[in-house]
Amino acid sequence: MRTQIVAGNWKMNNTFSEGVDLINELVEKFDAVKEVQLIIAPPFILTNEAAKALKYKTIGLAGQNCSNQSHGAYTGDISASMLKSAGANYVILGHSERRAYYHETDQIINEKIKLGLKNDLIPIICCGEVLKEREENKHFEIVAKQINGMLKEISPEDFINIIIAYEPVWAIGTGKTATPDQAQEIHQFIRETIKNIYDSDIANNLSILYGGSCKPSNAKELFANPDVDGGLIGGASLNADEFIEISKSF
Ligand code: 13P
Repeated sequence: MRTQIVAGNWKMNNTFSEGVDLINELVEKFDAVKEVQLIIAPPFILTNEAAKALKYKTIGLAGQNCSNQSHGAYTGDISASMLKSAGANYVILGHSERRAYYHETDQIINEKIKLGLKNDLIPIICCGEVLKEREENKHFEIVAKQINGMLKEISPEDFINIIIAYEPVWAIGTGKTATPDQAQEIHQFIRETIKNIYDSDIANNLSILYGGSCKPSNAKELFANPDVDGGLIGGASLNADEFIEISKSF
């Protein structure tokens, strides 16, 4: 049985006190959720505050990114070991916004994944095509290239700790969601890609999350697909009720 996961990527939203309020609201309402791994990824300034608040709850805590360097003169960066020491146990890597605005390549993401794993963080690694690539029917090729690039030299023993998120860029923050068939088709393809890199047992145990305008009204039909094991939620994760409602959509 694969782990069903609903992860909330807050992105660059909320002030410190608004973030604390949202964390506390989630902690208060969380008992309603069963058999689903809930994860939140607040901005770095809230990581340690969240770790303290989540201590006795089984909500996971992720960073939204980490550096591809272990330490040193990299102004503004946060390392994997810093994240771990602040209480995170997951890290989102290779988000399309990082790829688009900060020119992160699969090579850079691969370096981050290695540092994340080395520091005992579970990487949630992202892939997904832009609209033009989808329209030109290149999405399979693009996603396979991203996955192969990100997973270079990652051993099977390390890979079993990784979660993959498929996020079509055209669906992120646009209100446009992949149809359940589109999601299933590409999630199945991702599992097949992992089977080819590793083996079928590893592929079958991998949790693959869908991200892109996922909300309470469409989560059920997306999560009903055999290869969709949950969601990476942006906008809707900023509202505790909506986020919890999504986690009840399996
Ligand atoms: P939205 O749910 O706001 O479309 O964002 C998805 C996402 O990018 C999560 O990482």
